[in-house]
Amino acid sequence: MARIDLSLSLCGVKLANPTILASGFLGVSPFTLERVGRCGVGAVTMKSVGPRPWPGYPNPTVVANEEFMLNAVGLPTAGYKNIEPEWEGMRKLKIPFIASLYGTSLEEYAEVAADFAARKPPLIELDLSCPHAKKGGHQFATNLDLARKLVEKVKAVTGRRVPVFAKLSPNCPNIGEIAAACEAAGADGITAINTASAMAIDIEAKCPVLYNKRGGLSGPALKPIAVKCVYDVYEKVHIPIIATGGISTGRDAVELLMAGGTGLGIGTAIYLRGIDCFEKICGEMEAWMKENGYTKVKQLTGAAHE
Ligand SMILES: Cc1cc2nc3c(=O)[nH]c(=O)nc-3n(C[C@H](O)[C@H](O)[C@H](O)COP(=O)(O)O)c2cc1C
Repeated sequence: MARIDLSLSLCGVKLANPTILASGFLGVSPFTLERVGRCGVGAVTMKSVGPRPWPGYPNPTVVANEEFMLNAVGLPTAGYKNIEPEWEGMRKLKIPFIASLYGTSLEEYAEVAADFAARKPPLIELDLSCPHAKKGGHQFATNLDLARKLVEKVKAVTGRRVPVFAKLSPNCPNIGEIAAACEAAGADGITAINTASAMAIDIEAKCPVLYNKRGGLSGPALKPIAVKCVYDVYEKVHIPIIATGGISTGRDAVELLMAGGTGLGIGTAIYLRGIDCFEKICGEMEAWMKENGYTKVKQLTGAAHE
């Protein structure tokens, strides 16, 4: 029986397998990122870092069950000037990491991106798409013109030094066009998707569950939305996609690859299946590939478009 090859290259960065820890899970601490690195993950994304220190929203910030997670943590950050020790630790990781950032204006994105690029991480991801941040974030991923301007501005300061992925939102009718605008502006890849706008109400208390009232949906309930968004993006761009949203099994992983993913962002599955969910998902993918006559993970990318 032929060996199954899960390895791939994402803009020249080599990954042992396509699973990638999604941003926002396990923070920016190299200790926790290293721990997940020992659980068979292909790469890790750090929690998005913003321009200035910001505590995020008060509790309750998260509500979860087996079908979904709803969060409004509000992008808490120490600010990019205060994470020097984290950078040092991150450089020592044995797997590639993706440095994620956000701002509240074009200028702030460029400010943080310039600092990040100077440190030469393997990849940068721009969070344009947090659905519950007070300022910034979301509006950039739902407006074609703003998304294009933002990527242009960031690429002007990062140059060719580091590949830049734009992380997009499902909360718009035209994610494919927005992805195409990001590619035209110089993005090297697309991450799709961030959480979907959502809400939960405590019917006994007669009020929204989250302090911020509105939040972002992730986990299994998000998967069909992610499949559609990745499929739409794949039709419009030629750059790689990190397909993210609701992946918790090997079958989910294969589905998102067939929609158009090259890499696979995974977050909420950690709560459902444990920190070793990456190993489990890879094992299930391998078993499925063996049964179905595939030998290389690359054969699956975009297979549902043929
Ligand atoms: C608690 C929480 C915090 C998150 N923080 C970030 C973040 O800082 N930056 C970002 O780009 N995405 C963030 N996300 C979105 C995830 O990276 C991912 O896009 C989303 O959860 C869908 O994937 P999943 O269903 O595998 O969790 C966060 C999600 C959750 C649940």
